[in-house]
Amino acid sequence: MYDYPEFIQDIKKLTGIDLACYKERQMKRRIEALIKRNKLPGFKEFVAAIQKDSELYEAFLAYLTINVSEFYRNPEQWRVLENNMLPKLRSNAGNRPLKIWSAACSTGDEPYSLIMMLSKHFPLNKISVDATDIDKQILQKAQLGVYSEKSILNLPEEFKKKYFTKLGADSYKISDEIKKRVNFRQHNLLKDRYEKNYDLIVCRNVMIYFTEEAKDDIYRKFYEALNPNGILFVGSTEQMIHSDSIGFTSEYSFFYSK
Ligand SMILES: C[S@@+](CC[C@H](N)C(=O)[O-])C[C@H]1O[C@@H](n2cnc3c(N)ncnc32)[C@H](O)[C@@H]1O
Repeated sequence: MYDYPEFIQDIKKLTGIDLACYKERQMKRRIEALIKRNKLPGFKEFVAAIQKDSELYEAFLAYLTINVSEFYRNPEQWRVLENNMLPKLRSNAGNRPLKIWSAACSTGDEPYSLIMMLSKHFPLNKISVDATDIDKQILQKAQLGVYSEKSILNLPEEFKKKYFTKLGADSYKISDEIKKRVNFRQHNLLKDRYEKNYDLIVCRNVMIYFTEEAKDDIYRKFYEALNPNGILFVGSTEQMIHSDSIGFTSEYSFFYSK
């Protein structure tokens, strides 16, 4: 009988996305809802449908990757980053530019927030952030750099004034000087090679969707990708349970150092 395990295999062949690494209950429920919404009888028919209908295929991919984000998400943690972690990063890097990775960056709110925060402490031309996501469409949106009022709600006022132009009633465009500092690229955390020598890796609000094994594997790869004393900044519900067994030292809630 064709069921979720067979569906997972077909989706992996079709998209390269391994749904087996995502928490099953949550993912299966979401996909079943989408199948129902498209008035299809089950997983098998849905696979056939996305192979024929490119629009449905794109809609499925967009639906799988939950893209919610905002600037300065959980502002109190951004304050810890700025006040407590930045001095460490600065002393690790000395005079060379910092190497930073925003992994699973979604619409770009996170890497752009990083650039703005860092611009207070470093000249802009000395800052760059690699920003990656599995979702190509969302990366295009990130590169466009247009946001709603709600997205920038938590952003310090000084940055809103300095780096955004109001386009319409509820749309703000980020300045090119900030945009230029971010290198967007597609990257699948579960499958692709990780670059090395990062001083700071920010990976927030994606690990919650992965199985324990997948998470453990990713945290180990982040460890390898960091420079000695490098910092990992995780999401509010994503604290590592056995961070010391990987080699990390817990610095503050949501911050680990190598
Ligand atoms: C909820 S958003 C998080 C955005 C941002 N980091 C934040 O905290 O606001 C989750 C992002 O993870 C991405 N994602 C899901 N699976 C992924 C994978 N295997 N590799 C890379 N990115 C993935 C999704 O496309 C989505 O943009």
